[in-house]
Amino acid sequence: MNKFTFIILGCLTAGWVTGLKADEDAAIAKIESYGGQVLGIAKDVEGVRVLIPPKTFEGRILTDADLNVLTEIPNIIELDLKQAGIGDAGAAHLAGLETLERLHLEKTKITDAALAHLKNLPNLVYLNLYGTDVSDAGLDSLKGMSKLGNLYLWQTKVTEDGARALQASMEEQGNNALEINLGWEKELLSKARLASLKAQREALEAASTEETSEIVVVEDPDFKTHILPILQKNCTSCHGEKKQKSKLRLDSYEAVMKGTPDDPVVVAGDLIGSNLFQLITLPSDDEDLMPPKDGPLSEGDIAQIRNWISKGAKAEAEVKAVEVKAVEEPKVAAKSDDGVFATFILPILEERCVKCHGEEKQKAKLRLDSLAATLKGAEDEVIVVAGKPNESSLYKRVTLPADHDDRMPPKGDLLSKAQTDLLKLWITSGAE
Ligand code: HEC
Ligand code: HEC
Repeated sequence: MNKFTFIILGCLTAGWVTGLKADEDAAIAKIESYGGQVLGIAKDVEGVRVLIPPKTFEGRILTDADLNVLTEIPNIIELDLKQAGIGDAGAAHLAGLETLERLHLEKTKITDAALAHLKNLPNLVYLNLYGTDVSDAGLDSLKGMSKLGNLYLWQTKVTEDGARALQASMEEQGNNALEINLGWEKELLSKARLASLKAQREALEAASTEETSEIVVVEDPDFKTHILPILQKNCTSCHGEKKQKSKLRLDSYEAVMKGTPDDPVVVAGDLIGSNLFQLITLPSDDEDLMPPKDGPLSEGDIAQIRNWISKGAKAEAEVKAVEVKAVEEPKVAAKSDDGVFATFILPILEERCVKCHGEEKQKAKLRLDSLAATLKGAEDEVIVVAGKPNESSLYKRVTLPADHDDRMPPKGDLLSKAQTDLLKLWITSGAE
């Protein structure tokens, strides 16, 4: 039984709360006298985060014996000993910290022997051993850690084979979440993560083939068959029998060819001279775009109209229609509100951003609760530049370090790598 459990038992049986509290306060005071810190995790989370610096204020290097004090503090969830001068004997003081979830031992003097002391930390999720002398042999001690999810082994003696063997043995015991970092861009992703990335990739591929699927237009288009249905569906509510915006009707061949009282809107064979075609191919945020509200038309509809005008804007087909594949052409913003954005991006924004950038609050006059709002950006600031994640503040801000003033979300955990990867992929592939 270690001292910590002993104190807890003592506390439960004898109601010895004040004594426990006094020991704890003394321990905290001691850590603070080293220049260390004991901090709360979050408002509703019990437990503390302890930071121990490599040296005290006076410049004394902290040693293994100094860690003794940790056993007096219950509920340590995170312990940061980064670069401290401690070695294997110091790690022995960590053996009883059963609540520990995150442990930073990077650049300390520990070796494989220290890992044996960590063996019984059942809740450990994150372990950073970067820049230490641990090797493949030491990894054996970690095999029982069923919750371990992130292990950092960059610049240690561990080999890639050794790391893979640990991962495989964890998987056998049902831990599919372990990811091992062996260096810059050298990550052994977990089985769970690989499966989810694969699913995401497949869904993205499926969505993108849908959008770019070849648009089939007819060789010899017929107004009534191919064009009128598009106009009836999208235009005649304002350019028809009841309303004639711009004194223009689009509900018959004759009316379309007549145009407005001042000008024709369709010139056979001349796309540039055909105002109707120009107005349906404006950028989606242009206020002259037709139809004004639910525009732009689908790429398929635009292709039909283009084909019809460029082939002479005839009233009737002359020969029987033959289907050919069109060679396409300048891309028009696709309507994909319910595509990749809604499936992959919106859930991330809803979970982490919308409480400050949504219906209730609009920090920076920015909303992130729909595709249109996200693409619109902040007041005078575009936050997404299609194809360029590194020029998109939406992506840049979520990849800043935790302590950076501009990082988003401003508080709490950073987005996970899987989430920022998705944002990047979405922006790179056109932000649609
Ligand atoms: C919600 C109503 C509405 C719908 C639907 C609509 N329009 Fe319009 N349209 C307008 C208004 C209003 C104007 C006049 C705009 C202006 O003058 O700025 C206009 C103007 C035009 C003009 C310019 C006429 C000129 O003065 O040269 C064309 C061409 C046109 N629309 C084509 C279309 C087409 C094609 C569609 C369907 C794809 C469509 N509109 C759907 C409201 C609509
Ligand atoms: C707790 C509230 C809060 C949350 C949650 C939050 N933000 Fe913000 N955001 C702000 C505030 C406040 C500003 C303005 C101050 C600033 O620019 O840092 C801001 C500004 C921004 C800007 C800059 C807009 C401009 O003016 O160019 C972007 C982009 C942004 N947030 C994206 C996000 C994203 C993406 C998320 C979710 C991952 C997020 N924010 C979550 C509060 C929040």
